[in-house]
Amino acid sequence: MHIVHYSADLAPFRGCVLVPTMGALHAAHASLIEHATRHNAAEKGVVVSIFVNPAQFNDPNDFSSYPRTFERDQALCERAGATCIYVPTVDDIYPPNSLNAPIKLPAIAIGLGLEDRFRPGHFEGVYRVVRRLFELTHPHAAVFGEKDWQQLLLARALVTREKMMIDIVGSPTVRDPDGLAMSSRNEHLSSETRESALGLSRAIAAACAESDVASAERAAWRTMVDHGVMPEYAAVRNAETLGPVQCDQPRETARVLVAGQVGGTRLLDNGAWN
Ligand code: PAJ
Repeated sequence: MHIVHYSADLAPFRGCVLVPTMGALHAAHASLIEHATRHNAAEKGVVVSIFVNPAQFNDPNDFSSYPRTFERDQALCERAGATCIYVPTVDDIYPPNSLNAPIKLPAIAIGLGLEDRFRPGHFEGVYRVVRRLFELTHPHAAVFGEKDWQQLLLARALVTREKMMIDIVGSPTVRDPDGLAMSSRNEHLSSETRESALGLSRAIAAACAESDVASAERAAWRTMVDHGVMPEYAAVRNAETLGPVQCDQPRETARVLVAGQVGGTRLLDNGAWN
């Protein structure tokens, strides 16, 4: 497995399948990498990028305390079948003055009352880094987790907007056996707050047991509160546009999206409304 730091050394991997990450890799990232190895462009290599992107953190402390575990990450990438780890320099990602150019976000990342509302500036940072990673690695395809549903849709909107011929592949959410979606933030949970955190996946299940949108959103919200989660949003939306569910829309094209704080840790989750 190759380790590349400079974009000039990426040429052999043109046309690869890219898996963008911020490191602190766990089993869910391994599943994304394995998913990438099954893509028909994987013969050009599976490149995992590891870059803790300062531009997408709204809280500077969150950025500085983000876990950096490169040796473990390297072993995980190797086991999961990656061809190359790309650990860019800040200068490759953000050449001088590049942060001054404003970003006009696609509709999927603004005014929806979801992540866009609770993490101001976050999607500008994600857009910048993902666009730059695509420019530098020239992938044929890129794999994103369904866990961050709005981010996955943003990546799709980005390639359309930027006219990049990149296949954006969604990879299913990986969960612990009790249903908690895996996340590097789960490390911050105590045994007590981890129990509360189950309120998110259970909120999705509670929404699925309801037959109309309003009852589903109420049930999801209440389930989070009952578990001790401080909800930020509980929404049932059109899965592709994240706009309101139309009354004639087939139920399987809707998505339940939830987010909330558990003992100071912010968690999010989503699932099909089935
Ligand atoms: P990071 O949080 O490291 O996540 C990297 C990828 O792993 C993302 O596509 C995310 O959706 C996926 N992922 C994380 N937990 C998952 C789970 N439990 N199941 C399935 N997929 C999961 O997301 C980012 O980094 C950054 O915003 C990034 C896209 C790299 C841009 O900086």
